[in-house]
Amino acid sequence: MNITHLDGIKACVFDAYGTLFDFNSAALAASDEIGDNWQRLSELWRQKQLQYTWLRGLAGRHADFWQVTGDALDFSLNTLGIDRPGLRERLMDLYLHLGCYPEVPETLRRLQAAGMRLAILSNGTPAMLAAVVCHNGLENIFDAVLSVEDVGVFKPHPAVYALACERLQLAPTAICFLSSNAWDAYSAKAGGLQVLWCNRFGQAPERIPETPDGEIKDLSALPAALFPLPLAGEGRWVNR
Ligand code: LAC
Repeated sequence: MNITHLDGIKACVFDAYGTLFDFNSAALAASDEIGDNWQRLSELWRQKQLQYTWLRGLAGRHADFWQVTGDALDFSLNTLGIDRPGLRERLMDLYLHLGCYPEVPETLRRLQAAGMRLAILSNGTPAMLAAVVCHNGLENIFDAVLSVEDVGVFKPHPAVYALACERLQLAPTAICFLSSNAWDAYSAKAGGLQVLWCNRFGQAPERIPETPDGEIKDLSALPAALFPLPLAGEGRWVNR
């Protein structure tokens, strides 16, 4: 998958966790208590969190992402035999204060300055998303922060991707969706959106329906995929 130039994009819609916000930053910040196991804990926590969203979806037993995130953390702490008073609460609070990836603020500001509408579309609850957006000083960046709670089912249900079109009042092809979660990127493409897979973790392509329109390593490559001309302040033509 090469970086493609996407035409007719009116809004960029971002996945939150793993795409804008670094879910590893929670366990890292508590590594003084967790020790060398912090990466294992973080990985297991994330895997289990996603598994629980899919399992609950298949079973028709939705619970919000805060509940699922806590359940996944309990499973992971239990599995790794970590039992420290207050650690669960500390990690859950850190999940509301995740850091963003380094290129995120600058990239979003460039896109905003160029007149692009910007939104988040995430499994996160409205309260979780508001907290992490505020923590990173991004309150004035987004036109919409959309939570799956508005449709009551997690990604990759097609209703989630349709929510972005409905709320932004845009045709699917006028939206560029970005996710580092390959399954999320592929599923958004299946929902008709234009999609760039932000393959931060150098993962292999998925084997599920629909393929994103392109792949970028991180979000700094996004403006060049959207604009044929240099943005304000750029002294060169964008090399596409
Ligand atoms: C989200 C998860 C999938 O933000 O990262 O929706």
